[in-house]
Amino acid sequence: MEKIRWGIIGTGKIAKAFSKGLSFSPDAELIAIGSRSIDSANRFGNKFGVLHRYGNYASMVENPDIDVVYIATPHAIHAENILLSLEAGKAVLCEKPFTLNMTQAKTAIDMARRKKLFLMEAMWTRYIPLMVRLRELLADGIIGELKMLEIGMGFIAPRDNSSLYFFNPHMGGGILLDGGCYAVSLASMIFRSPPTRIASMAYLGESGVDEQSAMIFGYEGDSMAVLYLSFNTSIPPAFRIMGTKGRITIHPPLFNPTRMTITKADQEDEIIEIPFEGNGYNYEIAEVMRCLRESKLESDIMPLDESLEIMQTLDNIRAQWNLKYPIE
Ligand SMILES: NC(=O)c1ccc[n+]([C@@H]2O[C@H](COP(=O)([O-])OP(=O)(O)OC[C@H]3O[C@@H](n4cnc5c(N)ncnc54)[C@H](OP(=O)(O)O)[C@@H]3O)[C@@H](O)[C@H]2O)c1
Repeated sequence: MEKIRWGIIGTGKIAKAFSKGLSFSPDAELIAIGSRSIDSANRFGNKFGVLHRYGNYASMVENPDIDVVYIATPHAIHAENILLSLEAGKAVLCEKPFTLNMTQAKTAIDMARRKKLFLMEAMWTRYIPLMVRLRELLADGIIGELKMLEIGMGFIAPRDNSSLYFFNPHMGGGILLDGGCYAVSLASMIFRSPPTRIASMAYLGESGVDEQSAMIFGYEGDSMAVLYLSFNTSIPPAFRIMGTKGRITIHPPLFNPTRMTITKADQEDEIIEIPFEGNGYNYEIAEVMRCLRESKLESDIMPLDESLEIMQTLDNIRAQWNLKYPIE
């Protein structure tokens, strides 16, 4: 089987973790790295053994040998980078949050569909084996009808500029788009629909972005999700799904879990452990390559219409807080 050849845009933290993920994928080959600086591209290329290095993104996507581009830049420029890659005829996997807002997501999706090119949001959590099992169990009705979901996460985010985007409104800062997009995506995956009602509250800090927030989502009937996020305190990751016949607790780490407990009245708790191989990113990589080999233009597990709905939900929440980014 011929290897699928990858190019990466951006040389930051997640680009490095993803490159490691590629090294756990025997049918993938990282052949190109694009950076805003050739020095950074060379450093990255030396570290990960990448043959083609570019000092700008536009030249990289023109490399005819690249099958798929992975976008690892801050969210404020995802859309721009997706369009650049699609324009060059490349399939694209783009980091989360998919874009800054729904309008950008729609533009990107429309272009992918028009050009008949593969596009996917890199929501890696969905492909972790335990999460695959979780979806199967929920579909089998193991805890009955789903009534309540709780997701909480928080950490003390550094304010020393070590992150370019946490508190920076020009970079789509705030905990909602950073960690909160996982919570909104998990709620969407579990209830298999966007919320019909949203109540929320946020603290916007000095730079104007959301530093702490809580949200309640309402779905058809009485089902609800409670999500809470913070940049200002450490919150032990919480992920619990409550149904009419029991509950499932998914144990941390939240984004790449390996253990869950099923609790039912009058029964011993059932603990399910499913370890994963590699560093976790290899599963979303495998999904992209499966889709490309099967000539699919999107993944059934993270479909584009759902990425769009998630961006819409994030927009709706921000609208409740009057949080607009300067570039919007
Ligand atoms: N899936 C996950 O587990 C996960 C984890 C962390 C982050 N993320 C997501 O991945 C994206 C990147 O996060 P990161 O933590 O890797 O960020 P990072 O370490 O700051 O790296 C971002 C890279 O983007 C490039 N870039 C392009 N324009 C930029 C600009 N104006 N300012 C700063 N950098 C710019 C830079 O690469 P060059 O200088 O080489 O061009 C930079 O190294 C974010 O959207 C984030 O939400 C995902």
